[in-house]
Amino acid sequence: MLLDALERPLVLGPMAGGPGTPELAAAVSDAGGLGFLPAGYRSAAELGERIARYRALTAAPFGVNLFLPGPDRAPDLTDYRARLVPEARALGVEPGEPRWSDDEWPAKLALLLDDPVPVVSTTFGCPPADAVRALRGVGSVVIATVTTPDEADEAAAAGVDALCVQGTEAGGHQASFDNDEVRTIPLLDLLAQVRNRVPLPLVAAGGIMRAEHLRAVLDAGAVAGQAGTAFLRCPEAGTRPAHRDALVELTDTAVTRAFSGRWARGLVNRFLTDHDAAAPAAYPHVHYMTAPLRATGAVDVLNLWAGTRHGLARERPAAEVVAELTAEPGDHSA
Ligand SMILES: Cc1cc2nc3c(=O)[nH]c(=O)nc-3n(C[C@H](O)[C@H](O)[C@H](O)COP(=O)(O)O)c2cc1C
Repeated sequence: MLLDALERPLVLGPMAGGPGTPELAAAVSDAGGLGFLPAGYRSAAELGERIARYRALTAAPFGVNLFLPGPDRAPDLTDYRARLVPEARALGVEPGEPRWSDDEWPAKLALLLDDPVPVVSTTFGCPPADAVRALRGVGSVVIATVTTPDEADEAAAAGVDALCVQGTEAGGHQASFDNDEVRTIPLLDLLAQVRNRVPLPLVAAGGIMRAEHLRAVLDAGAVAGQAGTAFLRCPEAGTRPAHRDALVELTDTAVTRAFSGRWARGLVNRFLTDHDAAAPAAYPHVHYMTAPLRATGAVDVLNLWAGTRHGLARERPAAEVVAELTAEPGDHSA
């Protein structure tokens, strides 16, 4: 299987919302890891363009990450909107209209069945068994992202090839199948629990910022580690300048629904502090409400996704990050 055959056992965490570019994915794949293109928040047509851009850069294998749609329901959002209005007006905008979206999952699935890619991973739910069968039928390796042992069982029953096990340390959205409880299980604990129950290859995500972190998950039985935050400051990433600065200047991270209505780990800024406690479970409705505020780029209101070990992220080319993370003890070439 492709995951066992990687020259270096490192997967680039898909990063929707800007940071995950074809250039970053290609640089990681060319360095011997597995690059990933995030499909979240983009149209199927944009995904197609990004796959083409990746293929123009390298022939190396890569993956595409899809968001699975959740239920089309939300609580009353009047109170949360009222909190956002003064925030928005201070920035010269209005809150966006809350709405549900399927993130064009059916069209993206159709695209990937028509024009297959080596690896497809999923986030925010259990991939339906018929979709897994279809993707495997066109030759893609299918990975489901899970955050609990029960989710691992469910994904295994759907027939996936491998699991991405996401610990609480991870930056960005928690990949949980539901949007109820925040996930608090540290990566090494979760990895041990999942390994005990599911005999599938496991990719471990959350807090992998140094070679010793990668070695720890490999020693614990993972076939590869998946890192996102470690790549946020790379020149190939599409990370906004304010986000790059905040990774250095801000110290704490927290898991919050304030920005999107779904639990995600980010740097603690003013917006997170002020609205965390009031934020409703309403994804992607709240994502669309806060979008105009976030689009201003003001660092106080930006969703600054980052993992708990973000302080170790360095500003250097992605190939160097791959080399450093996968260096063996005593190897000083990185
Ligand atoms: C800015 C950002 C965006 C992310 N977007 C996605 C995404 O679109 N899909 C996904 O499955 N995971 C997403 N993640 C999670 C990463 O793929 C990866 O699992 C995580 O970053 C690993 O933890 P680390 O940040 O401590 O390395 C995102 C993470 C970050 C930091």
